Amino acid sequence: MNIKITTENKIKAELFVMGQFEGEKNLKESISRLAKEDKFTGEFKQTYLFSDEDQPIMLMGLGKKADFNLEKLRKIAGFSARKAVEYKVRSLATTLSQTEMKGADAAKKAQAVTEGLILGAYKFVRYKTETKEKETPKLCNIVLISKDKSAIKGMEKGKLLAETANYVRDLVNTPAADMTPTLLANEAKKVAEENKLKITVFGKKELEQKKMNSIIGVGRGSVQEPKLIVIETNPKAKKKIALVGKGITFDSGGLDIKPWPYMVNMKSDMAGAAAVLGAVRIAAKLKLSVNIVGIMACAENMPGGTAQRPGDIITSYSKKTIEVVNTDAEGRLVLADAVTYAEEQKPEAIIDIATLTGSCIVALGYSAAALICNDENLKKSLKKASAETGELLWELPLLDDFRDAVKGKLADVKNVGNEKAGAGTITGGTFIESFIQKTPWAHIDIGGMGWFIEDKDYVPEGGTGFGVRLLASLAENWK
Ligand code: BES
Ligand code: ZN
Ligand code: ZN
Repeated sequence: MNIKITTENKIKAELFVMGQFEGEKNLKESISRLAKEDKFTGEFKQTYLFSDEDQPIMLMGLGKKADFNLEKLRKIAGFSARKAVEYKVRSLATTLSQTEMKGADAAKKAQAVTEGLILGAYKFVRYKTETKEKETPKLCNIVLISKDKSAIKGMEKGKLLAETANYVRDLVNTPAADMTPTLLANEAKKVAEENKLKITVFGKKELEQKKMNSIIGVGRGSVQEPKLIVIETNPKAKKKIALVGKGITFDSGGLDIKPWPYMVNMKSDMAGAAAVLGAVRIAAKLKLSVNIVGIMACAENMPGGTAQRPGDIITSYSKKTIEVVNTDAEGRLVLADAVTYAEEQKPEAIIDIATLTGSCIVALGYSAAALICNDENLKKSLKKASAETGELLWELPLLDDFRDAVKGKLADVKNVGNEKAGAGTITGGTFIESFIQKTPWAHIDIGGMGWFIEDKDYVPEGGTGFGVRLLASLAENWK
């Protein structure tokens, strides 16, 4: 995406986007009159298309001025970009970056608009061969109008964040046949090489040597080797946090095979690992002082003849034994070994992110990720990052009831809670908690947020890139 900033007010573009608050008319008299005649009130996300002196203009409702904030600006920008894609325009200019708002400087506003536009214009077209599709004009030129020089810095940052989230979306949208653990590791190697980062990839042999049986168990039914990918941004730094992502490149359920239609989008079950890779990329490009240890626990969950069976008992890397009650609760199994490895690195905090449960969609829909956390300070930092990025978290509790629910009958723990305990998202998180010894830890379940089934504001359907900006913001503000 080519994006630049200008102080000029009158510039030509295939589409010019402007905002208007409810009950205000800060536009040219003639436009105001036109809009009013057509019942444009400025209600949030209301759109009004017209032409002024041959310039196509899209007027966007911003809602009530007192309620406006950066996330709403991001949403309006994203919505506009999606419209622009729909109208097949190649260039867009906008004054949205100048929207009046309390408590936000020009840089923050330019950043939000840039993020919204680049995220909203995203489309996954890699597998389209038809010339018609390929030749479709693509929104590729954006001009932001702002009088403030500091807007440039915000624009640059927004570009990095949004383009990285779009890269993560590409990884998630790529079919599982083309995004195996090995291929995902190759992607991580590319990111590492590009940014001169240290990377270690444990393949099957190394996982066996280390006795990471919980990861190996999940991968046993597939011909694809499992991989544990470890990538570090700044090994010499004093401060260190570990980000751990679930990287199931395809979740068939294993022998507890998923019935139709629950399997169809399961190429997205590596969204947590991809988000970790995205956050690592941003931390590297921003040269953050904290060391991010990105850990991606990758396997393909398949029901092949060598697959693990319901009822099998494995000895995890931590030496704790696990009863595999359901092979479809595989995310927590790969994470068990990964968080044990993470804790060995002695970070100040461990944050895992995972498309862990379908129950998360029951609890929070496609509006927020679930947060389970054993430390108040870490919680605070995550909530701050959430407020800043608009990537919403909603807290669920850690309770002894659920710790009891994951106690094993024959082994130390089991990978599914008691049926009577309910609360699938909490039992999933609580299972992972049982592998944490003493480090502040947070679990982010993106069961609903990793993959969207319809377009929403700045997120087109498919892989969302959720968590990339959230984790990058957490890292940036780590003290
Ligand atoms: N990857 C799924 C969870 C999931 C489902 C994420 C739908 C996004 C959309 C996970 O591995 C899984 O199958 N979880 C089971 C756990 C159950 C067997 C205890 C679930 O949530 O149903
Ligand atoms: Zn599963
Ligand atoms: Zn899964």
